[in-house]
Amino acid sequence: MNTILQKAVETHNLEKDEIIYLLSNDELSEELYTAADKVREEYVGNEVHLRGLIEFTNICRENCCYCGLRRDNTNLKRYRLTEEQIIDFAHKAVTYGYKTIVLQGGEDMYYTIEILERIVKAIKSFDVALTLSIGERPTQEYKRLKEAGADRFLMRIETTDKKLYEEMDPGMSHENRKRCLNDFKVLGYEVGSGSLVGLPGQTVESLADDILFFKEIDADMIGIGPFIPNADTPLRDASNNNFDMSLRVMAITRLLLPTINIPATTAMESLNSNGRIIALQSGANVVMPNVTEGEYRKLYALYPGKICTGDTPSHCRGCITSKILSIGRTISNTKGFHKRR
Ligand code: 5AD
Ligand code: SF4
Ligand code: FES
Repeated sequence: MNTILQKAVETHNLEKDEIIYLLSNDELSEELYTAADKVREEYVGNEVHLRGLIEFTNICRENCCYCGLRRDNTNLKRYRLTEEQIIDFAHKAVTYGYKTIVLQGGEDMYYTIEILERIVKAIKSFDVALTLSIGERPTQEYKRLKEAGADRFLMRIETTDKKLYEEMDPGMSHENRKRCLNDFKVLGYEVGSGSLVGLPGQTVESLADDILFFKEIDADMIGIGPFIPNADTPLRDASNNNFDMSLRVMAITRLLLPTINIPATTAMESLNSNGRIIALQSGANVVMPNVTEGEYRKLYALYPGKICTGDTPSHCRGCITSKILSIGRTISNTKGFHKRR
């Protein structure tokens, strides 16, 4: 085995220049994926955790240059689900067998802390783990949502390159994002983060910093996705060739954080028709099927070509189950918390 890979497999530590080497050497990719798959099997086993994803609002106060939900995009019909709809979709997901519900949405302040608390408590009465992915809020609100029963929080750092972040996410601050991630840790949430791979101006050096950052914040979950240019955003003409690099970032993340949960992301499958299975065989151990019902699925248009927009939650459940079983893996029957060693 390549000596840097060997070091990563044995020590789960690499220097920044070693990470850069692995990211830059395409001919090492297959060996990297095999090593990450082996570490995944050794530390988190063959079980795949399914998380039922509810996309509850596509309204967002932010204006991220890469995202179709950005507030300046007038080309998108906006929606917000009612409390009753959200709780109903969560309940249905539980009957399909999901042990974790993920509530994801734009930064939509219509959902006050009082509304969110009610939703969290209602969903937690179903005996499931609950993950929030609702963007930047005051510390006090994160505290109340934790007390209401939420277990985990997802917030990608998107990129650890502060200058690039503030260019890509105008009006947002890198410090505040880090403040949020720190709040989650202090409040006792499982912390999920991650990054976008392939943003214009992003370098392999900064991708290596992203991986080191995941280690530094001691994340419980890391989601890596390729950036996919969206015609309704300022980055419409950017390059769309980010699948392999995002797979390498994900695989190295597995080598360095062997026990964490890593999803095979929807964006990976949107670029490659077998993308989630390839990811599951390169370090990933989680899939997050969409359990939102109806036309909302296609309106949650972060990027073009998003998979499953015309399918139903029950179809997706069956589809992903058979794909996972076909590669010799099993579906977990637990809530799938991060088990440290
Ligand atoms: N391509 C890929 N992922 C995107 N996201 C937003 N826009 C895009 C895009 N064009 C991701 C961001 C965000 C997550 C919910 O969706 O990383 O954190
Ligand atoms: Fe809003 Fe998130 Fe999209 Fe940024 S990435 S515009 S915060 S939904
Ligand atoms: Fe949705 Fe396969 S997971 S169609």
